[in-house]
Amino acid sequence: MSITELAPAKLNLTLDVGARRPDGYHEITSVMQSAALYDVVTLETVETDDIVVECPGTDLPTGPDNLAWKAADVFFRETNIPRTGIIIRLEKKIPSQAGLGGGSSDAAAVLRGMRRLFSTNVSDEALETMAARVGSDVPYCVRGGTALARGRGERLTALLPLPMCWFVIVKPPVAHSTAVMFRKLDEIAIANRPDSDAMAKALEIGDLAQICRLVGNVFEQALPEDSEVFTIRRQLSRLGADAACMTGSGSAVMGLFRREETARLAARELEKSYPLTFLAPRL
Ligand code: C5P
Repeated sequence: MSITELAPAKLNLTLDVGARRPDGYHEITSVMQSAALYDVVTLETVETDDIVVECPGTDLPTGPDNLAWKAADVFFRETNIPRTGIIIRLEKKIPSQAGLGGGSSDAAAVLRGMRRLFSTNVSDEALETMAARVGSDVPYCVRGGTALARGRGERLTALLPLPMCWFVIVKPPVAHSTAVMFRKLDEIAIANRPDSDAMAKALEIGDLAQICRLVGNVFEQALPEDSEVFTIRRQLSRLGADAACMTGSGSAVMGLFRREETARLAARELEKSYPLTFLAPRL
């Protein structure tokens, strides 16, 4: 039997990082948003005991180092479902090491898919608890939509949906490691922080102009001045973005556009220099 789940990209409209905790993780506050840029995740049961990840055309790990593998493993461990073989096929469109939550979203799709595949009555809450064992962003990715995340990312509050808008997402060649970016942040004094509570309020009243003003990410402060991230951010603004910011720990940059046509033209322009440019409405 085989089933397919879509795994949307995750964007951070705000992202603030607090102190490193004794367990090595950092306290974060972030308004997260999903966008219609998808990996496709297919699960198939087979007559063995193995979990196998297939991800053609990439050099992603196919074993326990892949969050999708870990998600299937955690699902079997946390439920009473007899272990069976699973082939997880990942059709990747979300760039890796981009701050777009691609690996986390694939893992979340595996959890949702396993629940469907085995027709179990695992609650949404239980699925999010499993997700937190897989990775910090996975609980949000199980839920999707617009949400405020706290703790290490797993404490979620649903927010009203972002008013309709378009994202242009640009991934420069430079790759950012999440763990390295957190370490860099530990070494600097953060000058200003985005206000996620104000963002939640702006979402509540659907004030897109105010939402755009509040977009911000402290990880940008850990970048060198000549980072390509800033070049892309400036280009997005010049091409009419209503807000532009790096997402997650980068290196992808998102531009938020109210008008689809402006976003389309900006994407067309940026993809001349950056082949990994995507146009995606908010979900
Ligand atoms: O949870 P996840 O495995 O996705 O996190 C990857 C790395 O990012 C962690 O090992 C940690 O170094 C860092 N991290 C953090 N604080 C968070 C989330 C991630 O320091 N809230």
